[in-house]
Amino acid sequence: TTVVADTGDFNAMRTYAPRDATTNPSLILKAVQKPEYRSLVEETVAAHRGEPIDALCDRLLVRFGREILSIVPGRVSTEVDARLSFDTEGTIDKARALIALYEAAGVPRERVLVKIAATWEGIRAAERLENEDIRCNLTLLFSFPQAVACADAGVTLISPFVGRILDWYRKRDGVDFAPEEDPGVLSVRRIYGYFKRFGYQTEVMGASFRSTGQVLALAGCDLLTISPELLEQLRASEAPVERKLDPDRARAQAVERERFDE
Ligand code: E4P
Repeated sequence: TTVVADTGDFNAMRTYAPRDATTNPSLILKAVQKPEYRSLVEETVAAHRGEPIDALCDRLLVRFGREILSIVPGRVSTEVDARLSFDTEGTIDKARALIALYEAAGVPRERVLVKIAATWEGIRAAERLENEDIRCNLTLLFSFPQAVACADAGVTLISPFVGRILDWYRKRDGVDFAPEEDPGVLSVRRIYGYFKRFGYQTEVMGASFRSTGQVLALAGCDLLTISPELLEQLRASEAPVERKLDPDRARAQAVERERFDE
């Protein structure tokens, strides 16, 4: 399992040596408000004074993305504005604009995943972007059919959510779930098992975690994106994170469970 840091706070991820990192607009918003990044934000805004607010926001997303890429050896995910979630052409334009900003700063497009909501319109946009070698991470993914539609469209990576599914069931039923019965965990296992069984190339990255129990229950998934708070809790417990996330055992278990479920 590849460990991915789920944060815009790049200083906070240094300790955990993640391979990749994921951001979203609320994570970046949280980061830009931290005093330690004030000069970076001011410098970016000053350099582009007079540009429309949306363009300045893109500049900040990419500026933070570049800082992250100076720490992680792999890829950073930068998200397209949620207001474009039902607009295929708008999503394509925004993804091209973000990639152009990265490339203008010397970052090769292979190091960036454009994060797009896994709506019908988002999936169609990603299908076209992948044909232009713009790699996509399809997010806000809560269901098996969304996952299969993304894989059929040939997207590089999907982020099936765990915590938000659990949040919904917890609220609806007023009860908690052990990790082995957690509906969010089961959703990711089903998707992962199906992809491996039928040889889909799309990478599966569990996202939106609420506890270390959920993270460990998905050991073996291709990637897991984890907040610095949960990474710290995992580090503080005994065995190294990599060993807890034993890929071989968990992959075999996931495929077996998928067979059993059918
Ligand atoms: C990661 O890609 C997602 O943006 C993130 O994990 C969402 O988590 P949340 O449900 O805590 O917002």
